[in-house]
Amino acid sequence: MNTLHQSFSVRFTYDVYFTENLFDTLNPALLDFFKKHHTEGYRKKLLFILDQGVVAGHPDLPERINTYFASQSVVDLVPDLIVIPGGEGAKNDPTLVDRLVDAVDRYGIDRHSYVLAVGGGSVLDLVGYVAAISHRGIRHVRIPTTVLSQNDSGVGVKNGINYHSKKNFLGSFAPPVAVFNDSTFLTTLDDRDWRSGISEAVKVALIKDQVFFGWLEENAGKLAARDKAAMEYLVHRCAELHLNHIASGDPFEMGSSRPLDFGHWSAHKLEQLTGFEVRHGEAVAIGIAMDSLYSYRLGWLTQAEVNRILNLERALGFDLYHPALEGDSVLKGLGEFREHLGGLLTIMLLRSIGTGEEVHEMDENLIREVITTLKETEAQPV
Ligand SMILES: NC(=O)c1ccc[n+]([C@@H]2O[C@H](COP(=O)([O-])OP(=O)(O)OC[C@H]3O[C@@H](n4cnc5c(N)ncnc54)[C@H](O)[C@@H]3O)[C@@H](O)[C@H]2O)c1
Ligand SMILES: [Zn+2]
Repeated sequence: MNTLHQSFSVRFTYDVYFTENLFDTLNPALLDFFKKHHTEGYRKKLLFILDQGVVAGHPDLPERINTYFASQSVVDLVPDLIVIPGGEGAKNDPTLVDRLVDAVDRYGIDRHSYVLAVGGGSVLDLVGYVAAISHRGIRHVRIPTTVLSQNDSGVGVKNGINYHSKKNFLGSFAPPVAVFNDSTFLTTLDDRDWRSGISEAVKVALIKDQVFFGWLEENAGKLAARDKAAMEYLVHRCAELHLNHIASGDPFEMGSSRPLDFGHWSAHKLEQLTGFEVRHGEAVAIGIAMDSLYSYRLGWLTQAEVNRILNLERALGFDLYHPALEGDSVLKGLGEFREHLGGLLTIMLLRSIGTGEEVHEMDENLIREVITTLKETEAQPV
């Protein structure tokens, strides 16, 4: 037998910047990035794609972006800033992929130019996908505008859209070239979106960092009351934990394990079962409650620990039960979760607050009992 052996690795590096008023002409952060990556004799193009929800909250945003880039000679803004609808609908509408790929083509965005997405996790996931498939990968810069996208989805390496309502069925691993987290955007989020991203911080604290969990307990009141400084700390710490995990583990998820998806097997299904009426972060809060109770029922968590988790989520204002959990539909989420990763079913549970541990099977009857418990204790009277 004759074998040619091939092996190489590709190094990815990117910075996540934390700032305020990114498009203020006095803020050099974004321009400095392009100056640093400037190629003499060639002006790279920038194609901006904006989330309609962000523009609604910041109507002067397009004008500010134009003004920000008006007096410099490093990069060229393409003539249009493209505004697309935000929210999960952006990932459920395949015509948007076409529309954005068409813009890449029309404006001649090549592999040395940039696509910049300003928006929530949904718009970022869609734009990241479009950037990844156009010309086999265009550089993309993420400017996340929600709590969830600043502390989790926007700082990671994944993108994707839904296919026939199946979450993230189409997508790729494609790290951004830079992420700019601007805390001023968070001020215009509605209460649901302000809150929903906090569940990713609860998640990562539960599996990795009991000190951060304690901080969340102490600051739950401030977070629920929209204290900006508390939220800035949360976003920074949560982003840091996600980045550390990605770099130290299995960034492109070659194995079957996905620890950062604690509480997610049921959450993804619940989002779909409710026609995406329940936000991702809200579904994750319920998923965390379910898998924490399940861990308690296995004898892994103490009663006191599970109470702390449920009480924190309640204090943050999350509902911990949804009628769509009724019946067995949510259990299909287990099989779909396994299929998405491939290989062996691998679900993260909790050994204690701050320590996760994986299992390879779940007892469906125990899951049903956990759902019944949540229904009895959490269901809102109709
Ligand atoms: N790629 C990943 O690794 C990863 C990780 C976690 C979650 N996600 C995905 O992220 C998505 C959820 O993202 P999300 O929670 O950011 O919500 P979202 O993107 O769906 O946005 C929610 C709503 O907020 C609006 N909005 C965004 N920014 C705003 C602002 N600054 N002011 C006012 N309104 C604003 C949007 O227009 C939308 O209506 C889900 O699809 C989830 O699956 C991806
Ligand atoms: Zn998530």
